[in-house]
Amino acid sequence: MKYKTIHFPSIDSTNAYLKENYEEIDGFTFVSTDYQTQGKGRNDREWIANKKENLLFSLLIKDEEIIKEGSFLSLVAAVSVAQVLQQYGLSNIEIKWPNDIYVNDKKIVGILLEGRIPDYLVIGIGFNVNQKEFNGEYRKTPTSMFLQLNEEIDIDKLKEDVYETLFNNLVHYSSDKGKFLKYFKNHDYLLNKEVEYVFNKNIYFGIVKGIDEDFNIIIQSEKEEHHISSGEITLLNKHNG
Ligand code: BTN
Repeated sequence: MKYKTIHFPSIDSTNAYLKENYEEIDGFTFVSTDYQTQGKGRNDREWIANKKENLLFSLLIKDEEIIKEGSFLSLVAAVSVAQVLQQYGLSNIEIKWPNDIYVNDKKIVGILLEGRIPDYLVIGIGFNVNQKEFNGEYRKTPTSMFLQLNEEIDIDKLKEDVYETLFNNLVHYSSDKGKFLKYFKNHDYLLNKEVEYVFNKNIYFGIVKGIDEDFNIIIQSEKEEHHISSGEITLLNKHNG
């Protein structure tokens, strides 16, 4: 079994394209683009990326066995991305639960999972590659591979490397889930940090204790410990996250 690839010079959003067309497109098809006019980030935010300077793609998954892994797919995607960044010589790579990738305390890759379980899932990934300036509105200015390594990256080669790593990890990971959890635990951006989060519709403050075996984040609030499977965790301002 191998994957298929499609490339568009420009498109609204590679995630939206696969969501609209998943019935006609084979599972394990990667769709990439040089530019998105309506790139989408987590929590209904925009994902803005300069033309031809970044790696923007989505992968369609229709395999029921893989889809049912649910939030573990965030883990596999994030670890795959981190492994490739490591291969390219980046260091101080951390994963902000569930799947933002940070290098030297700045965001470098964003991941957005969308879909309808059990029919299909789309894993969308935006890599900041050769972009040198970020002029949008950010809580904290992101970084790129160029800014970290001070060299231009061949985006087509990077794309191949990411596709291979992500595909192989998705197909094989269930035999070695512990390896991915361990990788995350060794690169946990939020560990021991003070955060704000929502649990059962209430806002809490707490300290991140890590992740459990189901990839829920564990947070100790003043009175109780919460295990959370989804939602946004905001670093408190003193950490500037
Ligand atoms: C985040 O907010 O961190 C997630 C960003 C995900 C962006 C990627 S770029 C390719 C794919 N298409 C989209 O519209 N979004 C994802």
